[in-house]
Amino acid sequence: MEVIIKDNYDQICEEAVRLIHQKWQVKNGLVLGLATGRSPLGVYARLIELNQRGLMDFSRVTTFNLDEYIGLAEDHPQSFSAYMEKNFFRHININRENIHRLSGTPDDIERHCRDYEEKIKTAGGIDIQILGIGRNGHIGFNEPGSSLASRTRVKTLTKSTIEANAPGFKNKDEVPRYCLTMGIGTILDSGMLILLASGLEKNEAIAKTVEGPVTASVPGSALQLHRTAKVIIDHHAASRLQRKDYYLWVYEHRDKITDFLKKR
Ligand code: GLP
Repeated sequence: MEVIIKDNYDQICEEAVRLIHQKWQVKNGLVLGLATGRSPLGVYARLIELNQRGLMDFSRVTTFNLDEYIGLAEDHPQSFSAYMEKNFFRHININRENIHRLSGTPDDIERHCRDYEEKIKTAGGIDIQILGIGRNGHIGFNEPGSSLASRTRVKTLTKSTIEANAPGFKNKDEVPRYCLTMGIGTILDSGMLILLASGLEKNEAIAKTVEGPVTASVPGSALQLHRTAKVIIDHHAASRLQRKDYYLWVYEHRDKITDFLKKR
């Protein structure tokens, strides 16, 4: 796991976009896993800008979204589908058939989840999965207690997630109780994971994710099992990390380390 601590949210997003753009340059037909929430908004804004300035073509890019509320139609303003349209898809030259999202109103939920997993496989797997993190350590909608081997399926949201996601809904009772989410096992199959977090309210979840034991009680801690997980955070989110100085030192010296390895 690489922990990259930046001064502010803009820099977090720049770093994530740099990694995505770098991969896009070498991989014809990049497959991106996308998240919703506040954390990736700046990443989408920058990717849109790159696309509109002719620096990143999305016509061969394929996307898979992490999760969706059960019961919300795709045009419901609080659905993750509507979020993606508004904040990303409608602004870039992506081919509509390359966009994959979980439906909040599937006819057959189990089949829908199985098909989603199959589609990811057919696309050759996800190259880069973008993630945010919930205050309770959830990734996607894998709430604490989710199996580290889980695949795409139905989950019941915790009270704390319902409360955190209530702004935007008219009241807390309108927030759906159930959702569909890629599993932790599905997420771990991606080539690279980029987890973004900023703000003090994420510092505990980040400390447990990065330095705590690997446990289903903190789904983010599963990132410790991944070979190429990048945790890109600001100083607030990093404030409870015991090895914060070490992560900063490694990042500062990364060019020297690369040079040293090249010369050998
Ligand atoms: C939701 C989403 C997650 C997201 C999390 C944190 O529950 N399902 O994918 O990571 O919220 O959101 P935010 O980035 O707004 O803090």
